[in-house]
Parts: sequence; C-alpha cells; structure tokens
Amino acid sequence: MSTYEIKIILLGCEVKKINFPRLKIGNLTPEFPIIQGGMAIKVSMAELAAAVAEEGGIGLIAATAMTAEELKKEIARAREKTDGIIGVNIMFAASDFLKLIRQSISSGIDLIVSGAGFSRDMFGLGKEAGIPIVPIVSSLKLARISERLGAAALVVEGGDAGGHLGSDEDSSDLLAQIKGGVSIPVITAGNIVTPADVKDAFERGADGVQMGTRFLASRESSIAGYFKGLCVRAESDDAVKIMSSVGMPARAIKTLMVEKILQGEAPQPESCIGCLKRCSKKFCVRSALLAGKAGDPERGLFFTGAGIGKIKEILSVKEIFKRLKEY
Ligand SMILES: Cc1cc2nc3c(=O)[nH]c(=O)nc-3n(C[C@H](O)[C@H](O)[C@H](O)COP(=O)(O)O)c2cc1C
Repeated sequence: MSTYEIKIILLGCEVKKINFPRLKIGNLTPEFPIIQGGMAIKVSMAELAAAVAEEGGIGLIAATAMTAEELKKEIARAREKTDGIIGVNIMFAASDFLKLIRQSISSGIDLIVSGAGFSRDMFGLGKEAGIPIVPIVSSLKLARISERLGAAALVVEGGDAGGHLGSDEDSSDLLAQIKGGVSIPVITAGNIVTPADVKDAFERGADGVQMGTRFLASRESSIAGYFKGLCVRAESDDAVKIMSSVGMPARAIKTLMVEKILQGEAPQPESCIGCLKRCSKKFCVRSALLAGKAGDPERGLFFTGAGIGKIKEILSVKEIFKRLKEY
C-alpha cells in the first residue's frame, strides 16, 4: 500500500482515500490543498469560489474583464457566503491588470493568482499589503525568477489545461522539471479531474492541485446549461488548441466557432473596448467567451481542459469534495 493511499475493504467495496499534503501559501493553510482555478469571463464568480472555500479549498474569482467596481462587489458577495479562503485570478494580458490588482488588495483579498503573461510589479504590491502572490508559470526559469521576486507559491500549468496556455508540455512533465528547482510550494494544474488524478499528482510531489474543468462542470459555475451539457458530452479529443487573439494558444471544445478560428474565418470584431494590452484583432476572444458562457452554440467559444472526456456529470462542489475525501 502506498503512503498516499489508505485502502479500506468495507463489505467487499474498496474505499480509497487520498493523503492530502499540507499546503501553505504565505500564512494561508487551507484544509484541503485544492484550488479552484480562476475562470474568465465571469465563469468563476462568488457562488463557485465561495462554495469551494466553504468546503475547505481555495476559491478564486476570475477578475479579468470585470471593472474594478464589479470586482469589489463580487469579492464582497463571496465574503458574505463564506469565511473560507477567497482569492482572485487576474490575467496579466488584461489592460486593467494593475487596477484590478489594486482593487483586490483594497478589498482585502486573501491571495492573488496571475497568469497569461508575467508582472514584476505585482510582487511589490503584494509584499506591501501582506497578500501572497502566486504566479502561474510554465518553465523552471520563470519559476526561479518568481521565487526570487517573492512569490508565495507557484501554479505550474501544462499545455493539457483549459484556457490560455503557456506551454506545450503536459502538467506532469512540467511538475517533474520544476518541483525540485524551487523551495516554495508548487501547485500543479492541467488535466486533473478525477480523485485518482488528484492522488496521482500528490504522489508525484505536488504541494497542491489547481482544477479548472472539474469546477467548470459544477452546479455552482456560472455557465449556461448548454455549456454544461457540452462538458458532459465532450470526448477527450474534442478539446483542441486554437490561437487566441491574446497572442497565446488556448484550449477549447471543437464547435463551429473553433472551426472558423482554425480556418482563419472567425468574424472580425465590429467594435473594441480595448480589454487586452495586445490583441491580434483576428476575432474578439472576449465576446466569443461571453457568448460561450451564455450558451450560444454558433458564436460561443467554450474553453475546457484536455481532461474534459473524464467529465461524466455535473456535480455540486460539495459532491466533488465528498468524492475527493473518499472514492
Ligand atoms: C473556462 C475557463 C476559463 C479560464 N480562465 C482563466 C483565467 O481567466 N485566468 C487563468 O489564469 N486561467 C484560466 N483558466 C485556467 C484555469 O484556471 C486552470 O488553471 C485550468 O483550467 C487547469 O486545467 P484543467 O481545466 O485541466 O483543470 C481557465 C480555464 C477554463 C476551463
């Protein structure tokens, strides 16, 4: 029997338990080392983040594409629902990045996670306010730079994850490359969906796991029923890579919009609010994601991870945690 797994034989049923490591991010110690990945646009909102925090994980509100005022209200809504750990995820690629960081700090957020580019400024702001900063990285070089700049922990995200991607390599390969090269906690993200995946990640040395797709397909996520139905029906090879107008690859379910993007025939933006620091303007990723969230089969873009084929049902956050505690 491995040290990470206690098998109890109960009336012929094998019950498996995960031996969760203790995750420490600055002075935060969640009951479970499970982070719900921030999911823009407005997918991981107060309901989802608070439900995860309430179960003893870390819930992240995706701040990207919100105004500072909207973010302030969303953080306050989450705080009304739970005393658990609530953080924000802010994409560096967003035009309002620093404004959203400052708003999160003044709203008293517990931690800030940031990916899709790299900011040196955020470490100073976090240090000044005593708020842990957790960058999302996909290379040992950036992991070491982040540690030197004062990162409290790292999310190491592989090319098998959902949303925008910083690497072609799978999360398991990146974890092996980075874990031994830094002294701060390493949280792995990408294709971790089932309790067995979580157990495997801890056996490979992860200090925590960040899951997006599993929580996307939860009752509490803010996506339309159509998108939830797609999550249940999709097979693993339905989640393909596209080039996002952010200038990074991204993974999404192969739908009409994805076919058009792959063929270079996606509709060009009719108007632009300048939400990104840099945008190819080949299509509007913001409006396509909003249409996806609303369940528009034609104009919608539906981000998911490569593990989408493992989603068989929409579960409540409570049930997801119940199965993580015993499966
Ligand atoms: C719909 C969707 C939206 C996402 N949006 C963001 C985001 O705004 N910022 C970010 O850093 N990561 C984003 N991600 C990545 C997740 O936070 C998480 O790291 C990733 O989904 C992990 O891979 P998994 O889906 O295989 O669990 C998104 C993922 C999905 C599925």
